Amino acid sequence: MFWGIFWVLTGMEVQESQVAYLSQNRCISSGQGSSGGIGYVPSLLRMAPHYGVCLLVSFFLIFFATGPAGAVHKGAGPLACGSCHTMHNSQGGSASSPDNLGGATGGAVVLLRGNVTTRAEVHKLCLQCHATNGSMAGDLHPPQDVIAPKVWSPATWTDDDPFNLIGSGGNFYKEIDPTTWDVTTQKSLGYGHSIGETDVTPPGGDTQIPEFTCTNCHDPHGTADLDDPNINLFRNLKVNPTGAGANSGIKFYTGTTEYYRHRSYVGGVNGSYFGGNELDSDSNVIWPVYRGTLTGDPLTDSANSNSYGTGTDPVGSTTGTSKVTMSRWCAQCHDNWHEEITPSNLDRTNDLDSRRHAVNSMMPRAAAAGCATGCHVSLLDRINYNDALIQAGQALPVTASKFYTDNSYYLPTDTTGASFNGMDDVSGGDNHKVFCLTCHFAHAGPYLDGLRWDYVSTVSTGSQGANAIPSNKGCQLCHNR
Ligand code: HEC
Ligand code: HEC
Ligand code: HEC
Ligand code: HEC
Ligand code: HEC
Ligand code: HEC
Repeated sequence: MFWGIFWVLTGMEVQESQVAYLSQNRCISSGQGSSGGIGYVPSLLRMAPHYGVCLLVSFFLIFFATGPAGAVHKGAGPLACGSCHTMHNSQGGSASSPDNLGGATGGAVVLLRGNVTTRAEVHKLCLQCHATNGSMAGDLHPPQDVIAPKVWSPATWTDDDPFNLIGSGGNFYKEIDPTTWDVTTQKSLGYGHSIGETDVTPPGGDTQIPEFTCTNCHDPHGTADLDDPNINLFRNLKVNPTGAGANSGIKFYTGTTEYYRHRSYVGGVNGSYFGGNELDSDSNVIWPVYRGTLTGDPLTDSANSNSYGTGTDPVGSTTGTSKVTMSRWCAQCHDNWHEEITPSNLDRTNDLDSRRHAVNSMMPRAAAAGCATGCHVSLLDRINYNDALIQAGQALPVTASKFYTDNSYYLPTDTTGASFNGMDDVSGGDNHKVFCLTCHFAHAGPYLDGLRWDYVSTVSTGSQGANAIPSNKGCQLCHNR
């Protein structure tokens, strides 16, 4: 068979199974996988993780040599169910474990191939492809022939490094045990989202979530349809995250106005650029918030950068016509954090004083000390923020702005144009805004509370203190105090 000849790893036996989608895999304990003469295998594979890696001889390659190309997530072509499900937990007369994704001996919940005994453990399936030590970590997946972007890797990113060396969602490394993939931190104390946690109420939330894993936020099957009523095309994020409770139902804007849209340079499963050249600080494939180098001009950088839609954040929004930011999506679970859900967060009678940090407030591009006028208090001072910092990949994310026909993830320093000075967070909603992902990774990261810089310190379990922050990091980039 055409694809029957695979890269042959030392000590690895290649064997086609009677059942097309089951093939043999062996683990290699360490070191670099050396490719066996297929020019097609990218150098990335040879840079396989330093860990013990189980390189599965992919059934996809065997199967799809003769059949139509199928996708792991819906998008380009039909979905390959057998990537993740096994009907009888048996293939070729033996239990599906351990031949594929580390399947559970007695069969897994929802017929999954992974070692998943409850829905709180679904990430143990996802991580087989999305973690560097998963059994399919280095496999190329059709139809785009890409390696799954890593959300778990032993990377060494710190806040001195640029944001193109860590996945845009961050890295679950400090939340998940490297061997068992069980959660390691206590509820709401740790480095970000504690997937695997049970019976946990999100801080600021209204409902306890019985089982918390990747699929509370992402739909595993995905969508190819921008107008899908249940799934956002951007990252397959669920319109109603599982367990979100009240104030749930956020469909991102689906129209054509660029600055309201959530956009990734990868283009998602159905896009034209599939990543693979972006590596984290440990040389694993990731999808960071930008690729390559930035100039500081959003128009030229937009092709290399994600951008986060701006908007007014109405409380309920399932039509795709409303302008909703990621803050509003996060606040489905963290309800009280958002000023649109909890208006008392803002005290408009007293000069816009707030009770909680704004998560949907305008960021004028000009913001020297004292620049704000009229009803606006002078809060912002970006004296430490400049193009060199953007080019160094250290600018924090903000939402997009109507001033640009094409946006990037950061706040530009450019002060031309009519709206550079605006601070209107009430009526407009069309400008750069501070939002959850300004300060937090969506997944987790090296620092407590999933923060993008080292801000909180652990004093002892259950109580956190704070670290001093230098003038070129975090809060100081906007406030200079
Ligand atoms: C990327 C892995 C993956 C692929 C590929 C996949 N599934 Fe699933 N499927 C899941 C997971 C994970 C769940 C459990 C959902 C949850 O926990 O919310 C699931 C759940 C289901 C369910 C139960 C109902 C539900 O949606 O929760 C059905 C039915 C299903 N899948 C059918 C299919 C079919 C049919 C295909 C192929 C067309 C397919 N799946 C492909 C991962 C996958
Ligand atoms: C499906 C519900 C859900 C959604 C959606 C959600 N979260 Fe959470 N979040 C939780 C739960 C549950 C916890 C508490 C458990 C834990 O420690 O992770 C939590 C905890 C957190 C923490 C504290 C983590 C720690 O270790 O102290 C941060 C920060 C956070 N979320 C940010 C966000 C951001 C930013 C978004 C949007 C990208 C978001 N959340 C979306 C459920 C959710
Ligand atoms: C609390 C909700 C939440 C959970 C839980 C979650 N994600 Fe995400 N994920 C997001 C959001 C929001 C983004 C977009 C982040 C951005 O662009 O800044 C994202 C981005 C991604 C991306 C693309 C960007 C990247 O960093 O590679 C992948 C792949 C991904 N998630 C996979 C997973 C997997 C696999 C799991 C479980 C191991 C998981 N996610 C758990 C919300 C979540
Ligand atoms: C068999 C391997 C495999 C498994 C299992 C798998 N993924 Fe993926 N995933 C991929 C690949 C490959 C991509 C890159 C896009 C593509 O070509 O499908 C991807 C992309 C993604 C993205 C980015 C999509 C976008 O449009 O930005 C998300 C989010 C994601 N996966 C979440 C999950 C979650 C959640 C699970 C577990 C339910 C999971 N994946 C299980 C291989 C896998
Ligand atoms: C201006 C930066 C900033 C923004 C914007 C921001 N956060 Fe935070 N967040 C922090 C910091 C700093 C902490 C650490 C605890 C503290 O300062 O009280 C934190 C802590 C948290 C916690 C943990 C609270 C706890 O009880 O331990 C959660 C959950 C959280 N943020 C979620 C969110 C969500 C969801 C959004 C958007 C709706 C958001 N944050 C927006 C900076 C921010
Ligand atoms: C991306 C820029 C940005 C970053 C980073 C940022 N803030 Fe802010 N902050 C703002 C904006 C914008 C406002 C004003 C909101 C308004 O007027 O509606 C604000 C307001 C404030 C206020 C005034 C609230 C009030 O009652 O008027 C405080 C205090 C504050 N921020 C502290 C912090 C701290 C501490 C950090 C770091 C953990 C931080 N900010 C990070 C943009 C930022």
